[in-house]
Amino acid sequence: MSYARVLCVGLVGVAGHLVEVEADLSPGLPAVVLTGLPDTALHEARDRVRAAMVNSGQVWPNRRITVNLLPAMLPKHGSAFDLAIACALLAGAGELPLAPMEGVVVLGELGLDGAVRPVRGVLPMVAAAADAGITRVIVPVGNAREAAVVPGVTVGAVDSLHRLVAFIKGQGPLLDRPPVRDTPPPSGPDLADIAGQDLGRHGLEVAAAGGHHLAMIGPPGAGKTMLAERLPSILPPLDDASALEVTALQSIAGVLAADAELVRRPPFQAPHHSASLAALVGGGSGLAMPGAISLAHRGVLFLDEAPEFAYLTLQALRQPLESGRVILARSRGTTEYPAQVQMVIAANPCPCANPAGDQHCQCSAIARRRYLGKLSGPLMDRIDIQIRLQPLGVAQLMTSETPAEPSAEVAARVRRARDAAAARWAAHGWRLNAEVPGPQLRRPPWRLPPKDTKALRAGLERGSLSARGFDRILRLAWSIADLDGRDRPSGSDVDEAAQLRMGEAIDRQAGR
Ligand SMILES: Nc1ncnc2c1ncn2[C@@H]1O[C@H](COP(=O)(O)OP(=O)(O)O)[C@@H](O)[C@H]1O
Ligand SMILES: [Mg+2]
Ligand SMILES: [Zn+2]
Repeated sequence: MSYARVLCVGLVGVAGHLVEVEADLSPGLPAVVLTGLPDTALHEARDRVRAAMVNSGQVWPNRRITVNLLPAMLPKHGSAFDLAIACALLAGAGELPLAPMEGVVVLGELGLDGAVRPVRGVLPMVAAAADAGITRVIVPVGNAREAAVVPGVTVGAVDSLHRLVAFIKGQGPLLDRPPVRDTPPPSGPDLADIAGQDLGRHGLEVAAAGGHHLAMIGPPGAGKTMLAERLPSILPPLDDASALEVTALQSIAGVLAADAELVRRPPFQAPHHSASLAALVGGGSGLAMPGAISLAHRGVLFLDEAPEFAYLTLQALRQPLESGRVILARSRGTTEYPAQVQMVIAANPCPCANPAGDQHCQCSAIARRRYLGKLSGPLMDRIDIQIRLQPLGVAQLMTSETPAEPSAEVAARVRRARDAAAARWAAHGWRLNAEVPGPQLRRPPWRLPPKDTKALRAGLERGSLSARGFDRILRLAWSIADLDGRDRPSGSDVDEAAQLRMGEAIDRQAGR
C-alpha cells in the first residue's frame, strides 16, 4: 500500500466541510510535496508532522511523498489537519492498517514532541462531520467534552500521536472523555441585588420580553451597569439550535473552557470602549476571528459608556445590527459569523459625569449636546427603549423593607410574554415584538382604538413625537400587554410605553 486517505474537517466561518487528506508515497528522490493548503501553513504542518512522527518513534519514510488536501478550492486554516496528515502518511507508508480509520474523522494539532494539542472550532467541525453522516471522530483530549456535545457521534480522545498509532494497530485504548460535571455551571448576577430602581427594572423586563434594544442614560452610580449585567438572567435559556451556535462560536474564538458543556445561558459581552474594531466586530490577521458582537449572538451586547467609543466603531456596528451577521472580507475570501444580538447601551448624560447629577453639571449646552449626539444617528435610531435613571439616595439603598424580586420570577413572566408574542406573529415569521415593522402595528387587525392612542397622535401633530417614535411606543405597548397576560394593549399600556421613551427628549438634547 502506498496510498491512503484520512478524513478531517475544515472550517469556513462557522460552517465545517469534510476534507480528505490523501497521501501517496512513491519511489524516487525523498521529498515532501503538500498541496491544498496555504503556503505558510503548509510548511509549518510539514515540519510539525515530521518532528512529531520521529519523536513518537515512527520512521519518516524516505520516499517521494505527496500529501493533498481535498477539496482544493476550500480555504483551509489552522493546524487541525496535522493529525490526519500524520495518519495518512503512516498508512500510506504501510505502517498502519487503513480499515480502522475508514469513515473516521481525525482532528488535532501536533506538537513537535508528538503530543496532540487542542484546536479551536472542534464543536462546529464535529457538527459538520455528523451532518455529513460521520459517526466516529477522534479529537484532542482537551476538546473531547465539546465534541461530545454533538448528538449521534462517538468521540475518541487522544493526547499523543503514539496513543493514536497504538489504537489503530489494536494495541491500546483511546482516552475516555472527561467525566460530565455534576455541579451546574455558576449562574450570573441576579436582579435580587438591585434595590428600588423601578423604572430601570421595568425597562429591563420589557426589553427582555420584546427583544427590544435598551439605552440607559444616567449619572455614575445610577446602577446602569448593574442592570445591564442582569439582562441574561431574565432571558429564556437557549434552545438546542441556539445553544449549539453559541457554543460553536465560543469554540472557534477559543474561549470555551475545556470542561465546557453546551452553553445554555444567553451570552453577555461588554467590550471596553477602547476595544479595537477587530475585537468588536471580528477580524484579526490570518484567520478572521469572531468579535464581541458574534460572541454575543443570541444574547446581550452591552456598550457601557457608549459615547466614549470611537465614532467609526459605533458606525461599524450598524450593518451587523441590521442584518444579524458580520461579513469579514479577507484576501482569501470572506468569512461570515452570525451576530443577532440584543444591544444595551449605557451613557452618562454629559462628559463631566458628575455623580451628583444634572443639577451640578458644569458642562456647556454644546458639550452636552455633542456628547449624546454621537449616539443619535447610528445607534439611537434602532433602540426602542430609552430611559433616564437617577441614583438611589442612601436612604433608599439602606432601608429596603421588601426584598427585591429575584430574576427567576421576572424570567417566568418574560417567558410567558415571549410565548404569547411568538404565537401571535408566527404566521408572519417574527418571534419578537421588536422585529415587527411599524406599519404593521398601525394597520388592522393590530391597530389600536383611536381613544387609546389619542395622546400619541396629538404628539405627532405637535411635532413632539416622530413617526418612528410613535411606532416604537406601539411596539413597547404590545410587550407590556404580553407581560401582563392581556391579548391587546390598553390605553394605559400605551401610556406606560411612552414612559420608556425618554428618547424623544434625548434626541432633542442631541439637537435633532
Ligand atoms: N439600585 C441599586 N441597588 C443596589 N446597589 C446599587 C444600586 N444602584 C447602585 N448601586 C451600587 O452602586 C454601584 C455602582 O453601580 P453601577 O451599576 O456601576 O452604576 P453606573 O453603571 O450607573 O455608574 C454598584 O456596584 C452598587 O454597589
Ligand atoms: Mg457603569
Ligand atoms: Zn456635565
